[in-house]
Amino acid sequence: MYLLQIEVFGPLGQFNLQEIDRGGVQGDPALADYFVLFGPPGVGKGTQAERLKKGFNLAHVSTGDLFRDHLKRETELGKLAKSYMDRGALVPDDVTIGMVRERMKEPDTWNGMLLDGFPRTIAQAESLDDLLAERGERLKQVLFINAPKPVLLARLGNRLSCRQCGAIYNANTQPPKVPGVCDVCGGEVYQRADDRPEVQLRRIDVYLEQTMPLADYYEGRGLLTKIDGEQSIDEVYESLRQVVERAK
Ligand code: AP5
Ligand code: MG
Ligand code: ZN
Repeated sequence: MYLLQIEVFGPLGQFNLQEIDRGGVQGDPALADYFVLFGPPGVGKGTQAERLKKGFNLAHVSTGDLFRDHLKRETELGKLAKSYMDRGALVPDDVTIGMVRERMKEPDTWNGMLLDGFPRTIAQAESLDDLLAERGERLKQVLFINAPKPVLLARLGNRLSCRQCGAIYNANTQPPKVPGVCDVCGGEVYQRADDRPEVQLRRIDVYLEQTMPLADYYEGRGLLTKIDGEQSIDEVYESLRQVVERAK
C-alpha cells in the first residue's frame, strides 16, 4: 500500500497532515504523465495505447509506427529501418534514439506520453531518462503487459493493420467491417511484412534476448507494474486504466 501525505487546512486554517491510500502505485502529482507500455511483440501494446491515449489525452509515441511512417514516405531513415525490420532485428540505438528525440520536440508530448515499443535496450532506457531529465521530468510507470508465446503467435498471425492511419485489426476476432478497408479512415488494411511466421519468431527471440532484461532494470527502480495480457482487450484496458489513474 502506498500512502500519500497531503496538507489539508483544518477548521481553524491550520495545516494538518493527512494520509491517503493511493492503492499500491506510487505517483508523483508534480510530474507529467510519462508512461512506457512494455511487452513482447503482439501482446497488445498498440491496441491499448490507442485506448489510453483517448482516455487520458496523452500522446502515443510508437517507434514501430514512426519507422513505418518513414518507410511509407521512403525517407533515408525509412530505407535503413526497413533493412532491420524485415528480418525482425532492432534498428540501431543511435538512429532510434535520434528519432524519439525529434518526436519529443512536438508540443503534444509536453503534458505526457505513452511510449510504445521504446525503450527496447538498456542504452535506449538510459537515453529516455536523459531526454526526460532535460525537461525536468521522469517516468511515472512502466506498464509491463505479458502473455505466453502461443498467445502472441496467434495474435500476430491474425493481425491486420491500416496502412493509412495504423488502426489495428484481427482477422479472427476484430476484422474490419468491409474486408480490406479501414473502418476509421477508409485506408487499405494489410498484413505487416514482419508478421510473416519466420519473422514473428525472430522478433520474439530478439525481444527475449535484448529487451526483456529491461524488466529487471525498471523493477529495480520500483517502476514496473505487471499486467496480465492474456485477458480480453477490455480487461487489459481496465487493469491499465486503474494503474494510470493511481499513478497520476
Ligand atoms: P513494433 O511495431 O513496435 O512491433 P512489436 O513490438 O513487435 O509489437 P507489435 O506492434 O507487433 O505488437 P503490439 O504489442 O503492438 O500488439 P497489437 O496491439 O498490434 O516494432 C516493429 C519493428 O520496428 C521491430 O521489430 C524493430 O525492427 C523496429 N523497432 C521498433 N521500435 C524499436 C526500438 N525501440 N528499437 C529498435 N528497433 C525498433 O496487437 C496484436 C494483435 O493482437 C492484434 O490483431 C490485436 O487485435 C490483437 N490483440 C491485442 N490485444 C488483445 C487481447 N487482449 N486479446 C485478444 N487479441 C488481442
Ligand atoms: Mg504495436
Ligand atoms: Zn485507417
